[in-house]
Amino acid sequence: MKEFSTLLTETQDNLLIIYINREDKLNALNKTVIAELNEVVDLFIADDSLRGAILTGKGNKAFVAGADISEFKGLSQQEGVALARRGHDVFNKIEQSPKPIIAAVNGFALGGGCELAMACHLRIASENAKFGQPEVKLGLIPGYGGTQRLVQLIGKGKALELLLTADTIDATEANKLGLANQVVQTVELLETSKSILRKIATQAPVAVAKVIECVHAHFTDGIDGFNTEIETFGECVATEDFVEGTTAFLEKRKANFKGK
Ligand code: COA
Repeated sequence: MKEFSTLLTETQDNLLIIYINREDKLNALNKTVIAELNEVVDLFIADDSLRGAILTGKGNKAFVAGADISEFKGLSQQEGVALARRGHDVFNKIEQSPKPIIAAVNGFALGGGCELAMACHLRIASENAKFGQPEVKLGLIPGYGGTQRLVQLIGKGKALELLLTADTIDATEANKLGLANQVVQTVELLETSKSILRKIATQAPVAVAKVIECVHAHFTDGIDGFNTEIETFGECVATEDFVEGTTAFLEKRKANFKGK
């Protein structure tokens, strides 16, 4: 994998670990981080040897403490729209990745950090993780999908409470609300995330991609999720992996999937 200025990457077996590497700024998302995230996700999706990715923050304090507030100074309305649109494009790309991406939330996930974690397919939180959308404190609203994905994940009532009060919640509360899939000890964070990805990597890759596509179809304007499921079910039936998976079951052996 190429070198980035604000990210570090590590490949372990068929998994990619991406660290946002601005520890001194609590991994805040500046323009370069957003551009590099866009690039690394493209590379991850295009690399057939990679079966899953983990997104996390460098250091032991923050996953991402939000968009970089220092870049907000003097922003015009038009520039505000462009900034939000750019973030939406990148976060949508993460969400629509046909291969799973887990947010390993290792500390503060505030504002854009919470939004980034929510764009990932699963969120595993360390005990010290903190989630929140404090934008109203800054005279802002979330601009990277937070008003939508928070409602999708935890429901309108609780989402409105967090968005309007700017309250920060801990990992246990986030887990109770369904915002964090699991809470683990900090030392277990990466290993737990990897083991979930390894489990997903044993499943048929096309089927995994189609599940991601169908679930997000539900939330996409103008797309009928039920119809997407019917069509993609048919596409799965037409794969070699479907034949292999069903044959392996009947022959009482482990399936050997090829992603075809
Ligand atoms: N944008 C830019 N810089 C940020 C940042 C952000 N979102 N969050 C933290 N930083 C920077 C701080 O300015 C500080 O930089 P400095 O050392 O050059 O002064 C450094 O990261 C460390 O942060 P600091 O505030 O000193 O740490 P703390 O432990 O006292 O507080 C937080 C941690 C997360 C509570 C606090 O940093 C914070 O409230 N951050 C902003 C959260 C936010 O509003 N996010 C939404 C943005 S839309």
